[in-house]
Amino acid sequence: MKRFTMNQLQEFFHDKAIESVLDIGTGTGDFVMVLDNVFQGRAHITGIDPGEQWLNEARERFHQPHIEFRRMEGEKLAFDDQSFDAVSMSKALHHLDDITATMNEIRRVLKPGGWLIIDEVSADELNEAQENHKMLHHVKSFVDRANGISHQETWSKAEIRDILTRQGVEIKLSFPHELMENTIIDETILNEKYRMMEQHLEVLNGKPGYHQIAGQLPLFKERLKKHGFKMATMLMVVGQFR
Ligand SMILES: C[S@@+](CC[C@H](N)C(=O)[O-])C[C@H]1O[C@@H](n2cnc3c(N)ncnc32)[C@H](O)[C@@H]1O
Repeated sequence: MKRFTMNQLQEFFHDKAIESVLDIGTGTGDFVMVLDNVFQGRAHITGIDPGEQWLNEARERFHQPHIEFRRMEGEKLAFDDQSFDAVSMSKALHHLDDITATMNEIRRVLKPGGWLIIDEVSADELNEAQENHKMLHHVKSFVDRANGISHQETWSKAEIRDILTRQGVEIKLSFPHELMENTIIDETILNEKYRMMEQHLEVLNGKPGYHQIAGQLPLFKERLKKHGFKMATMLMVVGQFR
């Protein structure tokens, strides 16, 4: 994540006492790294995820005593009421089985006046290289859903804000930011992206829905060659429950 993004978060939180943070859908802990920088190693961070394989990787990355990882789903948090000063979710909102149940849990475990930090992949105002990321991501989400795994397509920035507002979040800060500075034009890496879509589709081969999206593969190849590949713009949202 770019320093500018971290600076904006740091600036926002500089006069707020944040001692405990819960990161939901932490994966291998990429966002824990950001949080630890933003709160300058002074907050206890707990990362949770249902995927034990991701958590094992995360545990190998972080050895600081103020960072811990636990296996858990956002919809059922094994924490007491009012346990955290802030709860975060990065690239995880569109993976949740039940957004309302998770938001209710977040509201319960947050201290009064506690902060919600949501970083989410956005679907609008993307350039052609970023549209390629969206295309690959949406094929993956289609395949996941076909296999019974919760994974929505990404939303526009207005939709993300709207989802959070309807869940009772009062947005205090929101800004788009980029995770990738440059467009990938290296042929080897572009071939890897193509291979990724091929692998996603292989999982679906012979199952309902395959023919619906199989046609995307040649189009994706053509688009990668023409435009390259870049991660979609992210939307950072910080708010409090009303
Ligand atoms: C795209 S990864 C994001 C990982 C990390 N937060 C990051 O920013 O790189 C989405 C994560 O959400 C997790 N996830 C899926 N369903 C979840 C749920 N119901 N509760 C909590 N996490 C969930 C997945 O296991 C996965 O690790």
